Amino acid sequence: MVITNDKTLLEVTGLTTSFFTGEGTVHAVNDVAFTVGRGEIFGLVGESGSGKTVTAHSIMRLVHQPGRITGGRIVFEGRDLLGLNEKQMEEVRGSRIGMVFQEPMTALNPVLRIGEQISETLEIHRASGGNGIRQRVMELLNKVGFDDPEKRLIQYPHQLSGGQRQRVLMAMAIACGPSLVIADEPTTALDVATQSQILGLLEGLVDTLDMSMIFITHDLNIVRSLGHSIGLMYAGRMLELSRVENFFKQPLHPYGRGLLGSIGGFSGSARRLTAIPGSVPRLSELPTGCTFHPRCPYIMDMCRVKEPVMKEVEKDQWVRCYLYQN
Ligand SMILES: Nc1ncnc2c1ncn2[C@@H]1O[C@H](COP(=O)(O)OP(=O)(O)O)[C@@H](O)[C@H]1O
Ligand SMILES: [Mg+2]
Repeated sequence: MVITNDKTLLEVTGLTTSFFTGEGTVHAVNDVAFTVGRGEIFGLVGESGSGKTVTAHSIMRLVHQPGRITGGRIVFEGRDLLGLNEKQMEEVRGSRIGMVFQEPMTALNPVLRIGEQISETLEIHRASGGNGIRQRVMELLNKVGFDDPEKRLIQYPHQLSGGQRQRVLMAMAIACGPSLVIADEPTTALDVATQSQILGLLEGLVDTLDMSMIFITHDLNIVRSLGHSIGLMYAGRMLELSRVENFFKQPLHPYGRGLLGSIGGFSGSARRLTAIPGSVPRLSELPTGCTFHPRCPYIMDMCRVKEPVMKEVEKDQWVRCYLYQN
């Protein structure tokens, strides 16, 4: 029940990830489904707390206590990742799926030189050693836009700018030739100029290395310029799935419509997902029925009672809303 694409690389269905805390159970990701086509960028969008990072961690099987994946399938390159043992999963991480995090400083080791960190990634996932590795590290640094790789090899993370650190993380993410990179808000902490350089670089890497990418962001502008398909998350649910061009032409879910209306013309500073009145409910205090109903201008009686299911309303455009379910 997701976007159809005969060249599917990743197919997530019914993914549910819950946290079992002292205050009760919350479903941070609830019945989420989407697909990522080969060579395509899937933009996963949502306000803070909507479950984007937990979705990414679920795919990587990096959800830790008190959290647990409680349902669904994550079929990647033909295998359900949820059925792999830890050793098989370690192979997948880094070598088939690379990840770039929002805060590069926490993902890098402060006491290791850049060259050492990238070589480590290569050595963990590949047996080859010696001179080959140094050569490969230089190539990788070059691919992510450093024209002086020799100099970078011997630098420490704190000697680099935020944008440069993010490039190093990208080099590590693509080091073993993954078919999928998950980038979790990789540009959120960067200034606008650096942000657009990094986005250009990511787009170039997807093209030249023939990879797919899940790009997580709360910035619709980025998805519009970068993505092939889009998934709109809200309070742990996917509310709308669409090809990017269709979504921006005609979003179907009232949440998507509100977001696009509220960022009218995509100009100025009001381009973040905060301009709809109200806020995302806390997962521990979810409303009954449709999770969006307290903010929805089209509310009907049943919206308060029962949660709608995802339905394909137009070709390749799925929406979780009673406006489209007769
Ligand atoms: N370690 C955790 N313990 C308890 N709840 C968590 C934990 N991590 C995430 N959550 C819950 O999952 C929700 C979604 O988190 P997250 O995926 O990080 O949101 P996003 O990346 O969209 O901002 C959080 O608001 C919180 O309720
Ligand atoms: Mg996040």
